[in-house]
Amino acid sequence: AYPKQVKLIDVGPRDGLQNEKSPVPASVKIELVHRLQDAGLKEIEVTSFVSPKWVPQMGDNAEVMAGVQRRADVRYSVLTPNMKGYEASVDSKPDEIVVFGAASEAFSQKNINCSIAESIERFAPVVAAAKAAGIAVRGAMSCTVGCPYEGEIAPSRVAYLAELMKGIGVERVDVADTIGVGTPLKVQKAIEATLPYFDVDHVSGHFHDTYGQALSNTLAALQMGVWNFQSSIAGLGGCPYAKGATGNVATEDVVYMLHGMGIETGIDLDKLVDAGIFISDFLQRKPNSRVAVALINK
Ligand code: HMG
Ligand code: MG
Repeated sequence: AYPKQVKLIDVGPRDGLQNEKSPVPASVKIELVHRLQDAGLKEIEVTSFVSPKWVPQMGDNAEVMAGVQRRADVRYSVLTPNMKGYEASVDSKPDEIVVFGAASEAFSQKNINCSIAESIERFAPVVAAAKAAGIAVRGAMSCTVGCPYEGEIAPSRVAYLAELMKGIGVERVDVADTIGVGTPLKVQKAIEATLPYFDVDHVSGHFHDTYGQALSNTLAALQMGVWNFQSSIAGLGGCPYAKGATGNVATEDVVYMLHGMGIETGIDLDKLVDAGIFISDFLQRKPNSRVAVALINK
């Protein structure tokens, strides 16, 4: 049986925009967050507190967080790879912080400049500090099916990372297909490898759509009882350290599929499509969502 309800975390303002070459003004990012919450999103990944030398687009993190008119029933999350990022984020009062590791050693090095083991040492004090401050903690696990540098990743590598994440007190994890190479059975194996450490209510799917598999992978995860997913408005995005990888599955496409299956999301698809048009117009391109384009052309 499929879950009756699904929670979507829109990562567009963060994962979606982090790779954009020209600076997107903070005011546009803030407006995007407002439109997403107006459309009914209850979780929004707003920005990341990472080095502005590495990811210049997220350099306005505090400004964006300060500009958002927050709602009590919406969870605003931010990425914090180390204590420096965590400390910089505290004044912004995130509801949740995200530490992000990888199942692949090479990706860990390229993305956060340290090994998997070192990353866990950096995350541990972040997780402890956040929990002491009453901030929720999520752990993103990159490259759970494939890595741009190492190729296919075995489920045992995912299990290794999930166990380490659990060991430092991470509350829930994202099983991420960073470069969108996964197919349904491989994604199910990556999730299966996570389940000894995190129950299904604390596992989310994070699927990039590079090879057009993300909706199928979402369905495969739903079949396992996963009901939390990250998606990106208008299919925005890509990771600066995963060349050629495109954005997350478009939120519009996931919502259309779920509603068609009778699964509730609390999201208003028309408002969502408008939010996607807003940011796509700013970026001077069409929404990278089949559903959005179909509805626009209707
Ligand atoms: P590092 O160079 O190893 O860090 O970078 P360091 O501690 O040696 O510090 C070097 C310099 O960076 C110093 O500045 C620090 O102050 C500064 P300098 O003295 O040279 O002027 N610094 C920072 N500045 C701001 N905020 C910080 C911070 N930390 C150090 N938090 C670091 C390590 C992680 C910072 C760096 O590698 C980095 O910023 N990487 C960017 C990672 C990133 O944002 N990647 C994209 C997001 S992950 C993703 O998209 C995947 C995901 O979507 C899931 C999926 O799809 O797979 C989540
Ligand atoms: Mg991602």
